[in-house]
Amino acid sequence: MILSDSLKNELQHAGKIVFFTGAGISAESGVSTFRGEGGIWNKFKPEELASFQAFMKNADMVWEWYQYRRKIVHDVVPNAAHLAITEFQKYYPSVVVVTQNIDNLHTRAGNKEVYELHGNIERNYCSACKKRYDFLEFKDNKVPRCECGGLIRPDVVWFGESLPPDELAAGEFAAEHCDVLFSVGTSSIVYPAAYIPLQTKKAGKYVVEVNLTETEQTRYFDELIKGKAGEVLPAILEEIKMFRKPLP
Ligand code: APR
Repeated sequence: MILSDSLKNELQHAGKIVFFTGAGISAESGVSTFRGEGGIWNKFKPEELASFQAFMKNADMVWEWYQYRRKIVHDVVPNAAHLAITEFQKYYPSVVVVTQNIDNLHTRAGNKEVYELHGNIERNYCSACKKRYDFLEFKDNKVPRCECGGLIRPDVVWFGESLPPDELAAGEFAAEHCDVLFSVGTSSIVYPAAYIPLQTKKAGKYVVEVNLTETEQTRYFDELIKGKAGEVLPAILEEIKMFRKPLP
């Protein structure tokens, strides 16, 4: 059995579930994480590729890097962890995903209510006039120009930039009003996103961490389930099916 008695009790009575996710939930789909073994930031310098200054300094290089990451995301599919969240929607009236990931895999998996704190690599906009260029295929690795002449950039949050206020507010509201929050596959060190699970604790609700290892925030949470997200979330769901019926 993977569920502790206290988590089982919480999940028996819960109505609102939040999944706060990081790069680790997409690792089993073949999308690299940022830190740790094989992490993106071991190979690339964030200050050279993931900041507005870097974009202004060498827009083609930054754009080419996002084209490279888009190709990776296009070539992979959601894994068992993303799909398990879709299944949770059949057993709980409210299932909200608050993610730091820009890979669009939650939405592709059928997760209905998803708030993207760091943007989405499939969306773009003009850095001058803000005109949107979403879900378009850009063949060229050279940075494209808007009809206004401005440089088109990916709609992702670069270091030093603020999070999208509506997504953040919706994520905070969900975290403060949920019954159980799962913090899945995140190193919990990048703020303000990493405040989200702490808001659930502050509201006196139950927080479960799902990760291969302990993180900076494990001590604040109710429990850590060590393991791969693509194995742990489906296993939790199998046990939930033993004490909950699907919603009518
Ligand atoms: N299942 C569960 N957890 C996993 C798995 C897995 N299969 N694989 C890795 N992990 C865990 C790692 O142990 C680590 O704690 O996922 C975490 C990934 O941490 P990071 O690489 O730091 O990613 P994340 O927390 O999402 O980074 C936050 O930093 O670089 C910025 O904007 C970027 O959104 C990103 C933010």
